[in-house]
Amino acid sequence: MFKIGILVSGGGTNFQAIIDAIDAGKITDTKIVTLVSSNPNAYALERAKKHGIEGVCIRKKDFETDEEYQQALVLHMQNREVDLVVMAGFMVVIGSIFIQAFKNRIINIHPSLIPSFCGNGYYGLKVHEAALQKGVKITGATVHFVTEETDAGPIILQKAVEVKENDTPETLQLRVMEEAEWIILPQAIQLAAHGKLKVENQYVRIL
Ligand code: GAR
Repeated sequence: MFKIGILVSGGGTNFQAIIDAIDAGKITDTKIVTLVSSNPNAYALERAKKHGIEGVCIRKKDFETDEEYQQALVLHMQNREVDLVVMAGFMVVIGSIFIQAFKNRIINIHPSLIPSFCGNGYYGLKVHEAALQKGVKITGATVHFVTEETDAGPIILQKAVEVKENDTPETLQLRVMEEAEWIILPQAIQLAAHGKLKVENQYVRIL
């Protein structure tokens, strides 16, 4: 059984999409062994409880240093023998201790077509605000491996979504989730779980 650990900060609709994909048989031979939230009030923790999945809150501010925080996250995942860490709406910029401990084993969903509207400061609704401000006609979502440079790791899957004339950041966010994020994140997990992702230099080859 392939074991995944999920990192979240908020509502957890992507987390829910992973649960649903496992239930529907779209992700196979895979178990969610833990959900870690950076926010004690995240609705994602309720979703975990409802589905009998361990849900815990681990906050940076509860540790004296960033190093100790990262070590705690590493230990949490290692103790559960996590094969793949999935950042599903995780709003913390994570440091090199954690990234090195899970090299090429951390994936992230980002709500734009990278390299547009990504990097530090681009998260959640801000991404869609920026896309609307620029007037792009097409946006989308990207699943990528996490490296030390924010949103710059090898790209696994992308899906385009149309921007509509009357979109607000909220309507665009929902369309990007429905038409892209909730589809490509489970697909990427299924590929990873079955050894179909090969990272060569900074490129991902799908086997
Ligand atoms: C999603 O749109 C996700 O792509 C985005 O936050 C939202 C979380 O929603 N992530 C980022 O912006 C990361 N840089 P969710 O909690 O309902 O899955």
